[in-house]
Amino acid sequence: MDFTDLHLATTDSTNRVARQLGQGGAAQGSAVVADSQTSGRGRLGRAWFSPAGTNLYCSYIARPDIELEDYPKLTMVAGVAVAQCLKNFGGIDIGLKWPNDLFIGSRKCGGILSEFSTDQNDKPFAVIGIGINCNLTESEIPDDLSAIATSLLIESGSAVDIMQLFNDVRISLLYLINEFESSGFSEILERWHRFDIYRGKKMSWARPDGTEVQGVNLGPDRDGALMVKDTDGTIHHVVSGEVTFTGLLDR
Ligand code: BTN
Repeated sequence: MDFTDLHLATTDSTNRVARQLGQGGAAQGSAVVADSQTSGRGRLGRAWFSPAGTNLYCSYIARPDIELEDYPKLTMVAGVAVAQCLKNFGGIDIGLKWPNDLFIGSRKCGGILSEFSTDQNDKPFAVIGIGINCNLTESEIPDDLSAIATSLLIESGSAVDIMQLFNDVRISLLYLINEFESSGFSEILERWHRFDIYRGKKMSWARPDGTEVQGVNLGPDRDGALMVKDTDGTIHHVVSGEVTFTGLLDR
């Protein structure tokens, strides 16, 4: 396939570079991978810890033949793609936390940040940014993350070939995007549910207006919005805002 791949020693954020690549018309599957990031970005404007040479930081371009309103589901499609890939890659059991977190046990080993844009021909495309802690050791994890972060090396005891993982994730992602286009979201959502580690747990949702809803996590609905049943029995469908779950580790 005629992918455009950029492998950079360092950059601010692979998502930013991939957006530029996509705006220039790069094909689906094209990607940016960096050995380190100086301004790696996470969800809700958070920084993504991106030291040199130990982890995977990459962003893939997707141009799926789907309705524009379905683009946000690509984050969950990518979650399943990465979880399946890591199972095949090293027998690693990944858990997913809505909408974009990759867990091993009770600690986070990666995350997904999807962003959407249009190119010079006004065609929409997605940038699917994926960070996976690969060969990070316990002593390299900053103190403020040590209780909540982990890596594939820490959990499996084996070092990871980062570029091999980059290529395998792409294959898995493109395969699942293809399935999403041809068969829709419901089967992929079923698989997402099987990886969900917080279903049935207590949670709170900080609404964008500043109020908070306490309840139980019922998992994502068929559109990918998170359902929370509050103490009155009302079911809310969460598409944005901060969600905090209890039951594994409080975070
Ligand atoms: C999250 O869990 O909040 C999402 C983290 C996404 C991090 C990746 S690293 C590669 C890509 N470039 C970025 O700046 N962010 C994503």
